[in-house]
Amino acid sequence: MERELTMEFARVTEAAALASARWVGLGDKEAADNAAVEAMRAVFDTIHMDGTVVIGEGEMDEAPMLYIGERVGNGESPELDVAVDPLEGTNIVAKGVAGAIAVVAIASKGCLLHAPDMYMDKIAVGPAAAGKINIDAPVAENVANVAKALGKSMAEMTVVILDRPRHQKLIQEVRNCGARVRLITDGDVSPAVACAFEDTGVDMMMGIGGAPEGVLAAAALRCMGGEMQGRLWPENEEDVARAKALGIEDVHKLLTMDDLVRSDDVFFAATGITEGSLLRGVTFTPKGALTHTVVIRGKSGTVRFIEARHRFDKKPQYAMKGCLDTNV
Ligand code: FBP
Repeated sequence: MERELTMEFARVTEAAALASARWVGLGDKEAADNAAVEAMRAVFDTIHMDGTVVIGEGEMDEAPMLYIGERVGNGESPELDVAVDPLEGTNIVAKGVAGAIAVVAIASKGCLLHAPDMYMDKIAVGPAAAGKINIDAPVAENVANVAKALGKSMAEMTVVILDRPRHQKLIQEVRNCGARVRLITDGDVSPAVACAFEDTGVDMMMGIGGAPEGVLAAAALRCMGGEMQGRLWPENEEDVARAKALGIEDVHKLLTMDDLVRSDDVFFAATGITEGSLLRGVTFTPKGALTHTVVIRGKSGTVRFIEARHRFDKKPQYAMKGCLDTNV
């Protein structure tokens, strides 16, 4: 993939973030999600690419846009796998709290795991601790090995975990090690990616969250030289069948970086919707809005933070509908 795509993918996540930001705090997660999906879809079609959505809003009969198998882009080569979460953290936006992002990962065809819509147990770290984790090892061993790799004491470690009853034991085990736990209400892509940036203060992300979100975060970690391990966490026979339908025969298989994202030819882009540890949220200004985006290119490992100032006076359609003007 050409490096010029960097800006194109930034435009895609900016559009989704701008559109859903209008719904922050309004208590309507569906409307926020729809706005993000519609805006993201519109910008995708302006890009020279022949993309197929492998992680998206659901199956074709469940989602009108950005469904699995949908073609995006103007149809010209290269052929690409596209993973999207136009609004990662729908409850976050509805409540107006921290941590929502618009996110995509794009790789050469066949390089992203076609993750079923179900749970995945995950452990994620940044580059300094890559090679030091093992999802099957005791929690205390993982936290101690990562602390050692980072040159931190246990008391200086921060482990992000989704605040869910299913994580009670995990949370207690991390606390018992003497490490600090940061509980989040939703949105585990952003903290997994934050592990790769030492100034975020996030050292590890652990626990069970969405499998599609796992692939999105793994794409960023692959670009940065970090590591994620995962294992699908089926809740019923339907989940098992769903995984098998996507070609995952052994649902209990340990998923390594090479299973999740099979090549360095991958881009990751995310724009903050609400304030987070890695990205600032959308700020509306008298004439438009400010956005904060990160784009990472796997081939070169370059990380770009893009602060954009959007002028709605020059883009009236953009102002009224969120971000539907594709000539941005
Ligand atoms: P949304 O689909 O509402 O954006 O939620 C995303 C998310 O919080 C993920 O970040 C996380 O992996 C997953 O949901 C957790 O699922 P659950 O809320 O069922 O524990």
